[in-house]
Amino acid sequence: MSSDASQNQILLSAHFSVRYAGKPPVLRGVQLEIQRGEVLGLVGQSGSGKSTLAMAILGLLDKKRSPAEGTIRFEDIDLLQLSERQLRALRGRSIALVLQSPLSSLNPALKIRTQFKEAWRAHASGTSADCADAIRNSLQGVSLPSDDEFLRKYPSQMSVGQAQRVLIAMAVMHRPALLIADEATSALDVITQSEILALFRELNHSTGMAILYISHDLASVAGICDRIAILHQGEIVECGTTNQIFTNPQHEYTQRLMAAIPRLMHANAPLHAKTATAQ
Ligand SMILES: Nc1ncnc2c1ncn2[C@@H]1O[C@H](COP(=O)(O)OP(=O)(O)O)[C@@H](O)[C@H]1O
Ligand SMILES: [Mg+2]
Repeated sequence: MSSDASQNQILLSAHFSVRYAGKPPVLRGVQLEIQRGEVLGLVGQSGSGKSTLAMAILGLLDKKRSPAEGTIRFEDIDLLQLSERQLRALRGRSIALVLQSPLSSLNPALKIRTQFKEAWRAHASGTSADCADAIRNSLQGVSLPSDDEFLRKYPSQMSVGQAQRVLIAMAVMHRPALLIADEATSALDVITQSEILALFRELNHSTGMAILYISHDLASVAGICDRIAILHQGEIVECGTTNQIFTNPQHEYTQRLMAAIPRLMHANAPLHAKTATAQ
């Protein structure tokens, strides 16, 4: 591959630090690269700075109180140089986010159809028929019904697994090049969790979107990630293929994480399982 071609494979290339006002830095010289179409895991214990990293990429940090300093290059743009208006045009269209608790991310007072319409209109113009088509396609893409009966439901009338599928469908509606999933399966029971993980992998295959999959749970990310970055106290201490992280962890902290995973996992790793955590 020529160096130009390999450059084009890089979707996001970041090197930055973040400090919340009056506190020591939360992220210190974090370096991260995401290739087009890959699933990159970001694993670290609670408080290590994972959500701060996600918010920095999405431009959701308070620019005055907690500015990200450095560069976050996405395609050909440095996200840290964009105005709020430019960021709004990008969020939900080129970079989308799925969070931990689906029911609190949906508006309880609005029918699913209304929420889908709003998500579509945020970045598209077209007829009602175009909108209805886009909603139907999105729902089919996450294996949910797309009939009237389903679209008339309120979030409280769905299971938590269905609600998470709805959120994922909305997030991928505009075919973002990058989807950030921040602990998107952490609040789910084991079976729903493994179904949603399989859905992320399926969407990655079918749409080619890259996923930054954030979790405190090394074992659960193993099954879907091509590479894993380990975040420890605001620094990325190791980044490698899932296989390398599991079979030959280099950093002492990664080795401790691996040692915390029950033996059965090692024999079959990498596996989906809700057993080992970084906490
Ligand atoms: N808005 C904020 N103001 C001040 N400190 C914050 C804020 N958000 C997070 N922090 C602190 O930054 C650190 C990293 O938090 P976070 O990025 O949420 O970590 P993680 O997602 O890995 O649990 C924690 O010590 C947390 O208390
Ligand atoms: Mg978090």
